[in-house]
Amino acid sequence: MADIRYFTGQSLPLEMHKVRVVQKLDLVPIERRLEAIGEAGSNTFLLRNADIFIDMLTDSGVNAMSDNQVAAMMKADDSYAGSETFTRLESKCRDLFGKEYFVPAHQGRACEHILAQLLVGDGDVVPMNYHFTTTKAHITLRGGSIEEIPIQEGLAVESDHPFKGNMDIEALRKVVETKGPEKIAFVRMEAGTNLIGGQPFSLENLNAVRQVCDQFGLRLVLDASLLADNLYFIKAREDRCAQMSIREINAAISDLCDIIYFSARKLGCVRGGGMCIDDHELYLQMRELIPLYEGFLTYVGMSVREMEALTIGLEETMDEDMINQAPHFIAYMVEELNKHQIPVVTPAGGLGCHVDAMQFLDHVPQKQYPAGALASALFLAGGIRGMERGTMSEQRDADGVEPLANMELLRLALPRRVFTVSQVNYVVDRLAWLYENRHIVQGLRFVDEPKNLRFFFGKLEPVSPWQDALAAKFRQDFGDSL
Ligand code: F0G
Repeated sequence: MADIRYFTGQSLPLEMHKVRVVQKLDLVPIERRLEAIGEAGSNTFLLRNADIFIDMLTDSGVNAMSDNQVAAMMKADDSYAGSETFTRLESKCRDLFGKEYFVPAHQGRACEHILAQLLVGDGDVVPMNYHFTTTKAHITLRGGSIEEIPIQEGLAVESDHPFKGNMDIEALRKVVETKGPEKIAFVRMEAGTNLIGGQPFSLENLNAVRQVCDQFGLRLVLDASLLADNLYFIKAREDRCAQMSIREINAAISDLCDIIYFSARKLGCVRGGGMCIDDHELYLQMRELIPLYEGFLTYVGMSVREMEALTIGLEETMDEDMINQAPHFIAYMVEELNKHQIPVVTPAGGLGCHVDAMQFLDHVPQKQYPAGALASALFLAGGIRGMERGTMSEQRDADGVEPLANMELLRLALPRRVFTVSQVNYVVDRLAWLYENRHIVQGLRFVDEPKNLRFFFGKLEPVSPWQDALAAKFRQDFGDSL
């Protein structure tokens, strides 16, 4: 974003792009919102888009593409094998990440599947700064386990630590020494750590992780799905990197990692994924699995049009104006919510704004899913769809015991270049109204609980008729308006 100072002293994020294609939105009345949340079993994943006004469920696969990305799609080469489209993408990845091989996969979790199959054995351990849901599921499916070792501040809701996604280096050394290096499948760092609020790691911390890996002969794997945000934060917050270009920071990160994989639904603003590696042996093993699970190596279930757009999208990630748009909007939203004393994860991270449901609804027990309850309440309040990132997103253990999440967050994602400041202001307004009326909101309980990844398809009901009461209060306060 350009360095603009306003004459009038306002501090609004400023878009360095213009909008040339739009999608019409509808805001359905509160009565329909009440019906819709009931039909969806109070699970925002099960809402229909027709009932949603502002969709902040995720930034995955819903970012706005640039004109150059859309234009590139027109020249896609869809030959089954040896496509020029693939060659262009491969060489862009080689250029940006400096690894010899690029192995595509249809999305991020497909990379996790392949990596877990090849690298994780029964009883193996994967230390990581923090897990992502699908990553953990793939590792445990292989009989492995994870060790989450974020720095202590990583789990603090309010903090001024600039790099809450850092790994605790001493804890890493301890895990490796206790389990034995032969039991460590790999060490995983996640850029823009998703589940703790889109928080970045520093280049200095990644360096320190690399040193431990070198000491014990371990592989370092980077989940680069949220790398764009992390690159921006390193440049903005890490003093010694302030003079480096985004491209240089990206190269420095890549040099420290053995394997880089990503969901291109986030990185590159398309739909797809891939892995960058130097290890020839591992490449050959991947090449055996990819055609079985994904498709031939040069298309892997991705549309070639998306591949062309990814090649451009990865290059555009090196543009600071492009990658700072979402963090600037998120920082603005966090600032506005702070003005209303609404508890929110700080410092502002990437991906989205994360409301602390544990504080917002401090009268709702964690076992009644405060973050899920808040997500359903916000949909009622404004047709806004967020995502529960708390206990509902956890999985019961082998004995059926439900672990309570470290944090109960309502994630309001800001897909890149999609929403305007006035839409963000509307969301802040509805959250402020909800905060005023938070005592009306109660918890949820499962009526249909799937065994795996229950947050996707599980259905719940309110523990009392509080959703009807909230809708009635809405009518009382807002009259006939939407
Ligand atoms: N790793 C991270 C850090 C992610 O955030 C995601 C997806 C994945 C891996 C899996 O990638 O969806 O392409 O299979 N995150 C999405 C989200 C789903 O909404 O945060 P995928």
